[in-house]
Amino acid sequence: MSKNGSNDSKSTPVIVPVILASQAGQKSTPAQPPTHTDDPEYFEDVSLWHFAMMNDQVRNSGYDQALGTAIQAKNHGTVLDIGTGSGLLALMAARHGARQVTTCELIPVIAETAKKIIEQNGHADRIRVIRGLSTNLVVGKDVPERFDILVTEIFDDGLLGERAFQAIKHAKEHLLKTDAQIIPARVRVMAMVIESKEIFENYRVGQVSGFDVRPFNKFSPWEYIGIHLDKMAYRPLSQPVRIFDFDFKNLPNGEESHKVDFEITTPGEMHAIAYWYELYLDEKTMVSTGPGLAKLSSWKQAVQIAENAETFQKGEKVTLSAHHDEIAIWFAR
Ligand SMILES: C[S@@+](CC[C@H](N)C(=O)[O-])C[C@H]1O[C@@H](n2cnc3c(N)ncnc32)[C@H](O)[C@@H]1O
Repeated sequence: MSKNGSNDSKSTPVIVPVILASQAGQKSTPAQPPTHTDDPEYFEDVSLWHFAMMNDQVRNSGYDQALGTAIQAKNHGTVLDIGTGSGLLALMAARHGARQVTTCELIPVIAETAKKIIEQNGHADRIRVIRGLSTNLVVGKDVPERFDILVTEIFDDGLLGERAFQAIKHAKEHLLKTDAQIIPARVRVMAMVIESKEIFENYRVGQVSGFDVRPFNKFSPWEYIGIHLDKMAYRPLSQPVRIFDFDFKNLPNGEESHKVDFEITTPGEMHAIAYWYELYLDEKTMVSTGPGLAKLSSWKQAVQIAENAETFQKGEKVTLSAHHDEIAIWFAR
């Protein structure tokens, strides 16, 4: 399974031009926006979802609150932030008085930008940015000792595509003290079956102008697509059902699956299974990636399109098997 989502989904890097430091101070306005250069430093994988994510106040204040509580509980202990991005969570940790914050970022140009942001915000004395993957960090070599708190937001629309399980398991085993607090503490995955001709017709074909064009469906995505359901015409056919609960201190290994019954509460055509998650940053603070929130989340719902549209009556049951491995969640009939 790929971790794939749609192009602007929080999982798929897109290439955007990055202005070099040497160009940043230039005053003249280019006649056209920069679109291409052969300089390899000019282009970097920086996904556009970073912007919506950084502007997601609900997400940000959830993390800020949980960090404040944890840093106080740990007597201003040390913090490891996996996946720096702009440096936002590391900055929050420093502002809450963490003794020392170490943060790492796998994409070099993002790590460099975070360093600048951290300097400009006056927290460079307490935050260290390391370029590279968290799973390559070694205590005694890259960092002096194990940490009191781990904070991380490396969760895509489908939860696991940024390899959060692997990074958190590695950190727990190699980088954290035994009684360390992990933010988030746990996550609950929810799903429902939906009718949405609009979504279905964006990804599947059948009869078109009197021709059977179904063989073209072999090019259709079988993994989830990140979609804001609230922006589409759709109807839930079932209530949301709890699918998985994961405790970040005790994550499972390998693949697991179980049967799930969705009881049809509204008759209609099942076009897709939509799933999302509730991220419990601590026991008091939960951030949902679900539909129907007061404010649209920067996370989209993960939507797995059905192979064929099927009609169900009220009271019928749709039984699916829900699967997960280390990098994906998916459903099968
Ligand atoms: C979803 S963004 C979050 C950024 C920032 N923490 C925030 O909350 O605003 C995740 C970032 O983590 C980086 N990343 C993901 N997994 C990583 C890992 N295991 N080690 C280092 N960086 C990672 C990605 O490149 C991306 O920039």
